[in-house]
Amino acid sequence: MSPLDRINSFIITAAAGVLSSCSYSIQKNPVPSIPSAQNYKQSELGFGNVYSRVIRPNCIGCHGNGGGVNLESYANIKANLTKIYQAAIVERKMPKAPNAPLSADDLGLLNAWIQAGAPETAPGGEPGPTPIPLGPNFASIKYNILDSKCLLCHAPGKPVARIPLVTKDDLLNSPLDLVLPGNPDESGIMLAIRGVNPEKLMPPPKDANGSPTGFTKLSAQEINAIAQWITNGAND
Ligand code: HEC
Ligand code: HEC
Repeated sequence: MSPLDRINSFIITAAAGVLSSCSYSIQKNPVPSIPSAQNYKQSELGFGNVYSRVIRPNCIGCHGNGGGVNLESYANIKANLTKIYQAAIVERKMPKAPNAPLSADDLGLLNAWIQAGAPETAPGGEPGPTPIPLGPNFASIKYNILDSKCLLCHAPGKPVARIPLVTKDDLLNSPLDLVLPGNPDESGIMLAIRGVNPEKLMPPPKDANGSPTGFTKLSAQEINAIAQWITNGAND
């Protein structure tokens, strides 16, 4: 390499460095500011509402059965409140990257609830949405499994938007044969959640680089609920 080439290649490397550090800071920076707690009505500040709007869709895929800190109940969330505040509101390191950070509205609601003392029942007395028990019907499967354990990746605007898992139609009319009514063993969704091909187990325990994602395998009860729904014909 001539001295001139060396200078040129230095300039190119330096420019690439500047460019990549710019794009890095652009990616790192869409940190929304937290809306004031005043923006939320007292009636919104109950556990049921905060759980269904913020925790269930954004945290339970990694903090449910078999995951690290379990955040599936009011008692568990209360016991970890300081850590949750630190990780999700102050440091913004949860949901763990590369998942999208909480939206401004999610951050605001979670923060307002914590500031209000994290009450189980909203100060106005409203209990909030009632959980749907796990069972072999689409509403329950969506509520208990898809929303919290799949949609961080499989929804429009998320990393695997190509394979949406949002509606019943997405499952029944997929070119990937995700659900073959009456035939769970050949339905694509069952192959994926059972990990018939371990490399394709869903949710994926590892990312493309082999680093842990934090997502845990579905429980046997969850896998059975989906299998039974398909066996029954997948029509409710
Ligand atoms: C993609 C997986 C994933 C998601 C989604 C996720 N977490 Fe985590 N979380 C982890 C992993 C892995 C750890 C343990 C390693 C660490 O602390 O980084 C963790 C650790 C934590 C801890 C413990 C931190 C400490 O100081 O001990 C808290 C609290 C937490 N997460 C809260 C949340 C909340 C609240 C959400 C939703 C807003 C969330 N996490 C979403 C993977 C996830
Ligand atoms: C952390 C992100 C992430 C989560 C969470 C996740 N997936 Fe996936 N999923 C992927 C990726 C990446 C692929 C591969 C996409 C491709 O081939 O283009 C994939 C592919 C699939 C496929 C197609 C498999 C094939 O053979 O082509 C199915 C079915 C699937 N996922 C189901 C699920 C279900 C059901 C859940 C929840 C229980 C889930 N996924 C959760 C990232 C995720």
